Amino acid sequence: MNVGLDGGFAGFKLVKASKQTTYPAIVGSVFDETYGTNGHRSRELLQPRHVLYGQAAMNEASLITRVENRGWYTSKQFIDLMLAGLTELSAAVVVSADVVTCLPYDYMGMAGKVAKRLSNTYKVRRPDREEQTVVVNVIGVVPQGWAAFITQAHDTQGKRTEIIKNDHKYGMVDFGGHTTNFETMHGLRTLDGQCKSVDVGVWKVIGQVKTMIGNRYSQLHLNDHQLVEAVKAGKVMVKQREVSIASMVRRAVKPFAEHLVVQAQNLWEDGTGIDTIYLAGGGASLFGDAIAKAFRDITKPLDDVDLVYANAIGCYRYALKLAQKRQAQDG
Ligand SMILES: Nc1ncnc2c1ncn2[C@@H]1O[C@H](COP(=O)(O)OP(=O)(O)OP(=O)(O)O)[C@@H](O)[C@H]1O
Ligand SMILES: [Mg+2]
Repeated sequence: MNVGLDGGFAGFKLVKASKQTTYPAIVGSVFDETYGTNGHRSRELLQPRHVLYGQAAMNEASLITRVENRGWYTSKQFIDLMLAGLTELSAAVVVSADVVTCLPYDYMGMAGKVAKRLSNTYKVRRPDREEQTVVVNVIGVVPQGWAAFITQAHDTQGKRTEIIKNDHKYGMVDFGGHTTNFETMHGLRTLDGQCKSVDVGVWKVIGQVKTMIGNRYSQLHLNDHQLVEAVKAGKVMVKQREVSIASMVRRAVKPFAEHLVVQAQNLWEDGTGIDTIYLAGGGASLFGDAIAKAFRDITKPLDDVDLVYANAIGCYRYALKLAQKRQAQDG
């Protein structure tokens, strides 16, 4: 099967033809005493390592290990999460996956290393299922924002669309949890020297909101996941009463949004010479308005694509394109 994989710092996203899945990018260990007491968890792997992942890790793990630097993309936790996703996409005894994945632009120097590290044959076991053999073949590693951009250039069958013109210049901003990627393209080609990753994303806002909530409602203790949900919804429950935190979120977003606008202006000045700027990523709903205001008339949402899944969908469509190219060569 062809698979697009976006293993973000905040969330894992995997896409194949007929199915997609996402879960928080969290892996937790289970100590023996706790294992078995709650029955099997839906997001649990027994093999190659016994771990809980996603929501289950957040709620029940005894110990959570987070990697928050470029080592993430070659970490054991990354492999756990990739195998977890592939076995969510397929319950077959032998799963053979041709994977395209994506990295922040500034990490593309490690693309070969990532492809080599992830490509392997794994024995995987989930609770209540026979052991699965998962053959991972990484056939492409592309920059994150470019992956989201390619969703406009290739349709669901991997065929070239009319939307992206070869003689137009495009900007792309992908707002993640940890990083925001800025890319400039001429047609489909990325323009080196006009792309960058910035270490500002939704987590900065979450950190600020956490402090603000702590100051205002000292009795309220929210874990990271609950904080993200509160920021998304713009409200929290205090003593069984719904309280709006929308203005808090706006205040927390403002300085980071301004920082990201300046980063974009450093690349694109006032936007003259850029035909369209596209926005993607989970942070687009928080930071997107500021970019749209700074680059009026040329900022557009991606057509027909869930912004959180945009990179993974782009990786999937690119995998289709590579498969077609290979077939044409073989045939
Ligand atoms: N509608 C929304 N409003 C606010 N935040 C959101 C919304 N949807 C998703 N998020 C949050 O945005 C953050 C970024 O999500 P995304 O999946 O794009 O991150 P990521 O790709 O894992 O991170 P990175 O690109 O830094 O590796 C997450 O913390 C997610 O919970
Ligand atoms: Mg991302």
